[in-house]
Amino acid sequence: MSQRISIHGQWSSRLLFILAASGSVVGLGNLWKFPYITGENGGGAFVLVYLLCLALVGIPVMMAEVLIGRRGRQSPVFSWQFVAAEAGASSAWKLAGWAGMLAGLVILSYYSVIAGWTLAYLVRMVSGSLMLVTAEGASSIFTQLVLDPERLLAWHTIFMVMTIKVVSRGVTKGLEQAARILMPLLLFMLVVLVVYAWRQGDFSQAYAFMFNSDFSKLTPNAVLTALGHAFFTLSVGMGAMMVYGAYLPKGISIAKTSILVGLLDTVVGLLAGLAIFSVVFAHDLPAGDGPGLIFQTLPIAFGQMPGGSFFGTLFFLLLVFAAWTSAIALVEPMVSWWVEKRGVDRIRAAIWTGISAWLLGIVTILSLSSWSFSFSFGGVLKRHGLFDVLDILTSSIILPLGGLAIAMFAGWVMSRDAVVEEFEGRAGIGFKLWYFVIRFITPVAVVLVFLRAIGVV
Ligand code: PHE
Repeated sequence: MSQRISIHGQWSSRLLFILAASGSVVGLGNLWKFPYITGENGGGAFVLVYLLCLALVGIPVMMAEVLIGRRGRQSPVFSWQFVAAEAGASSAWKLAGWAGMLAGLVILSYYSVIAGWTLAYLVRMVSGSLMLVTAEGASSIFTQLVLDPERLLAWHTIFMVMTIKVVSRGVTKGLEQAARILMPLLLFMLVVLVVYAWRQGDFSQAYAFMFNSDFSKLTPNAVLTALGHAFFTLSVGMGAMMVYGAYLPKGISIAKTSILVGLLDTVVGLLAGLAIFSVVFAHDLPAGDGPGLIFQTLPIAFGQMPGGSFFGTLFFLLLVFAAWTSAIALVEPMVSWWVEKRGVDRIRAAIWTGISAWLLGIVTILSLSSWSFSFSFGGVLKRHGLFDVLDILTSSIILPLGGLAIAMFAGWVMSRDAVVEEFEGRAGIGFKLWYFVIRFITPVAVVLVFLRAIGVV
């Protein structure tokens, strides 16, 4: 049984799995979303809760998710089906695979639109047209972009084509190749930027904002947002890590690699936050500006700093690369499912998945202009109608519930022996600790955060 391998192929080495998984986790979540939700939720206390969610929920669930994937060796829906049957459990568990696959499609639909913004800004940075831009200028450039559905559609289309192109090439020639080239570049660019922000920006204020906790500002919804983001940033709860696990050869430690990838993601998120807020505070720009934060503030800062045009270009290039390697992971659960279910070739499956997400992306594009409406989510004003709704529905609801299902399954439904077998038969202290967390701490934490957010406790 353990000799089965996925029909889609497998990672060529441990390093390539780490690169590909890092490519999936490090994305717009770290560089765009984490800074703006931290800004919206007042910094410090939010960051602390987020870190706790990563350690107690996100990373343990990542291990369980990769484990289920490697045991199932198929797309998430079929891996769920396989492990449920093996454990003698109800086949209804595969609903978690379905929910995750659809969540991936929804996330990709808006992810691609935001990635489109980064492409648009990259071009502007390269052209130098953002140099010496004023605060009003930067905000009007951003507004003009998001209020222009045709332009957004064009960038969204380009990004979707880039993504589908890679995915259609398969695990080795597509996913691995992209990670092999893009990830080292991305890490290099990040380091350059952090050094730059540290020397030119207001690093100490950024540090204080992110790490001085004021718990009075923390609403129950902020806690749910932090939990949801822990899942989002780790690409956990929707099957991406499960399918990456399905391609993981036997003998590679799930625990070590997951912890490494989780830590890398955490460090990248914190460094990106510090770099971005250093620039924001150095120019007295507002931190709580929502999804436009980096697009409205960073061009002003880069436009005024020595070498800003070069570093600005580097930053937006970093965003594009990060988004690209993550978008691939968002599509993979559905593409692999399509190939297995219908026996179609990968290219066709990738194209159809891409078209579906592309069409759905139009909802986000229109929510930014003609369909926009505002609502309040736990005291934070959300101004982008259905885009915000889709984001909250996926990151704050489906991903945590998917994570809960994964934790419950690995902790309570799967036989302990099967779990230990995926840990290379080693049930030492590390394993026992993880097993305890996944059985008790993770489920209780997720349920409590939910109950608190809806006002029950
Ligand atoms: N982790 C990615 C990010 O931080 C987003 C993502 C979520 C990718 C789920 C794949 C699956 O941007």
